[in-house]
Amino acid sequence: MDKFIVHGGVRLTGSVAISGAKNASLALMPACLLTNGALTLKNTPNNRDLGTMSRLLGSMGVGMSLEGDMLTLDSTSITSYEAPYEHVKQMRASIYVLGPLIARYGEARVSLPGGCNFGPRPVDLHLKGLEKLGAEIDVTGGYIIAKCPRLQGAHFHFDISSVGASVNILSAAVLARGQTTLTNVAIEPEVTNLALMLEQMGAKISGIGTTTLEIEGVDSLNPVVASTIPDRIEAATFMLVAAMTRGDVTLTHVIPEHLDAVTQKLIDTGALVDVSDDTIRVRMLETPEAVDITASIYPGFPTDTQAQWAAYMLTAQGASRIRDTIYPTRFGYVPELQRLGAHIETGEGYCVVKGNNKLTGATVMSSDLRASASLVMAGLVAQGTTEILRVYHLDRGYEKLESKLGALGAVIERHPTEDY
Ligand code: EPZ
Repeated sequence: MDKFIVHGGVRLTGSVAISGAKNASLALMPACLLTNGALTLKNTPNNRDLGTMSRLLGSMGVGMSLEGDMLTLDSTSITSYEAPYEHVKQMRASIYVLGPLIARYGEARVSLPGGCNFGPRPVDLHLKGLEKLGAEIDVTGGYIIAKCPRLQGAHFHFDISSVGASVNILSAAVLARGQTTLTNVAIEPEVTNLALMLEQMGAKISGIGTTTLEIEGVDSLNPVVASTIPDRIEAATFMLVAAMTRGDVTLTHVIPEHLDAVTQKLIDTGALVDVSDDTIRVRMLETPEAVDITASIYPGFPTDTQAQWAAYMLTAQGASRIRDTIYPTRFGYVPELQRLGAHIETGEGYCVVKGNNKLTGATVMSSDLRASASLVMAGLVAQGTTEILRVYHLDRGYEKLESKLGALGAVIERHPTEDY
């Protein structure tokens, strides 16, 4: 396991290229199972979760090759329709193979994902959606066993807006016989990235980008060369850390409209934000004003950025209330920030960050991907050095974060450690 040693007190300046979106790649990769031949994904990020998905698909016999950020996947000769627990326990998005497998091969055996430390994270919508399309679903021994010679189009309504369930059911419906109508579909950019790629492959989908998708099933799809959208959560993290250190940072390779909610809130705190087609420049010249946020589904403020917002608000004047309507218990980062001297109160589904904190470096423990980012951010403004353990959480969704921050002036060292 690695740890970071973060030296506080540095103002970040310069420019940083944002990588491809982890949560888009994880949705695009399993779509290789929907067709024979080489599906190529440009702008693929290099992080731990992508490694996990690659190992899972490889274990099923998918051939893969990576040249720079061009990932090519070929499922022509897959040998297994199974996603074993050893892979799924590392990453719940492994369940994304379920829809494509049942749609293309008529069978799948996928381990149930575990929960995680910010909620139970059920998969009932994934299973209900596939059953509505005619799949026979059995859950035994910790595994989902799905069978169906050919899925049949239907109308499925998502009771809750779910990114993962939308990905799975959309990926299945494109090969179902006849018409499928999906309502209350998630419209996160990662879902739209998948829908556009499926359309490129020959799927017949109307309503892309809206919460209602009409799908006319086809008998087969063709492999294509598609692009992964930039990672809006990595981008949001860099925008906030730039403002938090009173820096001047330009992000390149972004899609600014994916970040409207974060940009608006950042401007409300007093940051200067300049936007072009594919860049965002963030400057902060004075102490930020405290601003409340409520994490909600897209295009609302992303739940994957609320921990980073809490870190940013530690340096603001005034108190900021942070609510999360998607994961009401996603505040595992609070006790760790408190170890650095943060004044934060938590309640049912929210926390209140008191501003003007004088943070002092300490040893802290990462608990999940985005919580780890908030610890790095706080370490960058704390007095002295902060030791962050279990940075494998961070590596799941950030590509060489310490190098990117280092190029902006941060002083962060990565050390192997036996500490757990
Ligand atoms: C995706 O998770 C993301 N992961 C998460 O990012 C993100 O936090 C989340 O969407 C919300 O935006 C990937 O894309 C790989 P959901 P997912 O299904 O699909 C409930 C990160 O840091 N629900 O949209 O699992 C669920 O409990 C990760 O990159 C059901 O009730 O989230 C939650 O309250 C963390 N039944 C709500 O829906 C289901 O069958 C939204 O979850 C599925 C979900």
